[in-house]
Parts: sequence; C-alpha cells; structure tokens
Amino acid sequence: MFADDCRIALGRALVVLLATLAVATAQAGDGSFRGHGGPVRALAVSSKNDLAISGSFDQSAIIWNMRTGAASAVLRFHDGAVNAVAAMPDGRFVTAGEDGRIAIWKAGEGAPVQTFEEHTGPIVALAVSPDGQEIASASWDETASVRSLTNGRSESFRGHHGNVNAVGFLPDGRLVSAGYDTTVRIWRREPDSGATSVLTTGSPINALTVSGNSDIIAAGADGAVRILAPDGTSRASVETQEVPITALAVSPDHSKIAAASIAGSITIVDAVAAKVLFQIAGTKQPVWALAFAVEGRELLSGGNDRMIRRWSATNGEPIGNVTETSSPDILAGFPGDRGAELFRACIACHTLKRDAENRAGPSLNGVFGRRIATAPGYNFSPALKKLNIVWSVETIAKLFELGPTQYTPGTKMPEQRIENAADRAALIRFLEKATTN
Ligand code: HEC
Repeated sequence: MFADDCRIALGRALVVLLATLAVATAQAGDGSFRGHGGPVRALAVSSKNDLAISGSFDQSAIIWNMRTGAASAVLRFHDGAVNAVAAMPDGRFVTAGEDGRIAIWKAGEGAPVQTFEEHTGPIVALAVSPDGQEIASASWDETASVRSLTNGRSESFRGHHGNVNAVGFLPDGRLVSAGYDTTVRIWRREPDSGATSVLTTGSPINALTVSGNSDIIAAGADGAVRILAPDGTSRASVETQEVPITALAVSPDHSKIAAASIAGSITIVDAVAAKVLFQIAGTKQPVWALAFAVEGRELLSGGNDRMIRRWSATNGEPIGNVTETSSPDILAGFPGDRGAELFRACIACHTLKRDAENRAGPSLNGVFGRRIATAPGYNFSPALKKLNIVWSVETIAKLFELGPTQYTPGTKMPEQRIENAADRAALIRFLEKATTN
C-alpha cells in the first residue's frame, strides 16, 4: 500500500508539490541549505567531505559547498524529478531521475560528461561500486541495472515483482536490490559467485544501504530497520516505532544507522548493538533523503520542506548558524522585511552586492534595466542569451509567477514559483533596494 502512496507522492504530484515558495524559513536563522523549489528527494556527500549534492522534484540537482552553505552549481539535464544522486570516489557526481536516465557530472562543467538511457521507468535509487567503475540503479520498471563505466555495457537484473526501490554494492562488488515485493536480493554476478539469494522480509522495502563492513541495512513500510549479513541471513531487526521508513544512511565508520520516516522523524541506531540511540523529531514533514557528512559527525536530511537540514549525529541537535550564507549582513539590514525573508530562498545562489562573487547563479547587482544573461563574468545557459527580456519590476514578477522553466526555457535555475502576488511584489521591492549601489 505504501508503495502506491509513495508512487503517487513521488511520481505524479510534482506540480502540486512545487507549491509556492513557503516561508518555512520562519523557524530559523539556521544552518540549513535552501535553494530547491521542490521537495528534496536525494542527498550524497563527496568523498572529501567538502561538497554535498542534492536532487529534487524541481528537476535540478544542486552542488553545495559544505563550509559556506552556498550553492556552487545547479545541474539541469533531467526531464522530471531528480530522484537519486551519488558521489563517486574520484570526485564526480551521478544523478538519475524520473526520466529513466543517468548522468555523470564533473565539477566545473555545466553539462554532463556522460549520460545513459538506463530504464523504461523512473529511477529511484543509485549506488556506485567500491572501485568506482560501476553504477547500479533501481527502477520502477521492475529492474535493477548495473552500468560499467569501463566498457559502457549495461546488465539488467530481473526478478523483482513490482517497483525496485533500492540498490547497493557489497564490498566484494555483488549487487543488492530491494523493493515493493518485500524481498532483498543478492545477485550472482560471475558464474562462480554462487546463487542469487532472495530474502523475504514481509514488508515492502523503500530503502537499502550497504555498510563498509558488509552489513546490508534495509527498511520500509513496517518501520523496522533490518540488518542482514552479506549472505542474506538476518543479524538483527530494530523497531523504530516510526512508519513507514523512507530513507537510510550509514556512518562512514559503520557505527551508526540513520532511518527517516514519512512522518519527518529520524531514528539513530547503534549498528553494532542494534539498539535505538536517539530520535530527532524533525519537522513533521516527510523526509526523503539522508546522508552522513563531516566524517560522520553530521547528518543531512532532505524532504518536503525543500531544505537540506543539518543535525549533529552525536546528539541530534540542529546545526546552528554556522554557514556564511545563513545570516548574511544583507538581510540583517532589512529587519522584518517580507521581501528580505523571501530572498532567503535565493541567497544560496545569488549575491546582491557589487563586488560579491557569483555563486551558482549570477550576482543580481544592477539587475533592473539589464538585459537577460548579460551580467558580467557569469557563464549563462546558451538558451537564455537568445531571449528578449529586460529585467524590470514586471519581468521579474513574471519569472516567479510563471516559473523559470516556462518564462525562461532552457534555464538552469531550479523550478520555483511565488504564487502570491503580494509576496512577489515584496520580493521585488526588496531587490530594488538591495541591488542598486
Ligand atoms: C539553486 C540556485 C538558484 C536559486 C535558489 C535561485 N536562482 Fe536565480 N538563477 C540561478 C541560475 C543558475 C541562473 C542562471 C540561469 C542560466 O544561466 O541558465 C539564475 C538566474 C536568475 C535571474 C536572471 C539573471 C540575469 O542576469 O539574467 C534572476 C532575475 C534570478 N535568477 C532571480 C532569482 C531569485 C529572485 C531567486 C529567489 C526567489 C532565485 N533566483 C533563486 C540559480 C538560482
């Protein structure tokens, strides 16, 4: 039942979920990363711990600087929600989405360096093999797939009945998959690697992760976190009291498992003792993605509130005002200003002052009266340079009334709309004050 709910929630309701830019910002001048115009569906952290990548229903992926909280790039390629992201050992990133495609990205390049048409249905999970040479994907076309980056070949794994929701690699390179049919499957890869094992869990599985010590961790509709040995035998099952579980992550030292629920809470489990350590109440909104960061000291969560929230992995406290973009002077100069509050949704990508450097988006300094895609020193998408728009009170209002995808087709800016006319006007009044020298 949950998988159907999930399918509706994840697959079909994009338009509904891309609601107005909420001022969900009220709770905090906190260390959260804001920038997505839709629910955050996927998260990963780079092997060097300096960058994070998020995928969203807004059809974009964003690369975040973990230290400053600024968005350093917006990746747009997928035609539909970006449901899965992964970091590769060599620093590249992988994205996959509703469009059944996989894209590989190199930092600093605006377009994917490689793309694959992998599945006939949405891809909902990705994993990178320990040697970085293979990418596994899970799809609602009822298959899992492994793409070799060495020879470009793709192998399809059939057997699941229904959506395949999760994939992982064991340290020895074997593929593990799980799905709506309640099974966890450990696939035979080479003729001598033994039979495929099929473990029936009794609960539709939404999430799976493999820890560096070979434990397979799987969870789903019934709220239990199952820890399996690499041969598929059950090692432990931990009740979280939270249903259903929507996302899992394991800390780099294998000591902790984090499990998030559709109700918004996150349970931290001691992976060795198989006991609940503590629970993070969260925001009461569904969480779809988790990743450990800062060498396991922090946990990132992403969900329906469109933010990437940061928590201490030691005690569950929210990470406070530590990023450079979280309490920028520019907003401090406009206390109580509704427009400034709304600009919090933009600040990860846009600076306002004359000499501030570009973030993922161009500086908006001097934007009024300027022709689109002419801000100096920024590499705009080619499609924008052909548009005949001059930025004004009216055209910036249109940009957020219709949304960037419709008003400026071909843009990298994540899809977002501000449906309330008074809010659009407040944002523009603020921009007029803050972008003129
Ligand atoms: C996640 C990053 C991101 C967020 C958040 C974001 N933008 Fe953008 N924005 C971009 C990018 C990237 C571009 C350039 C698009 C391109 O070249 O394809 C852009 C372009 C623009 C432009 C056109 C600039 C020009 O010189 O032509 C305006 C205006 C703009 N954004 C305003 C906003 C406002 C206002 C908000 C907040 C409500 C916002 N953006 C939120 C990334 C973002």
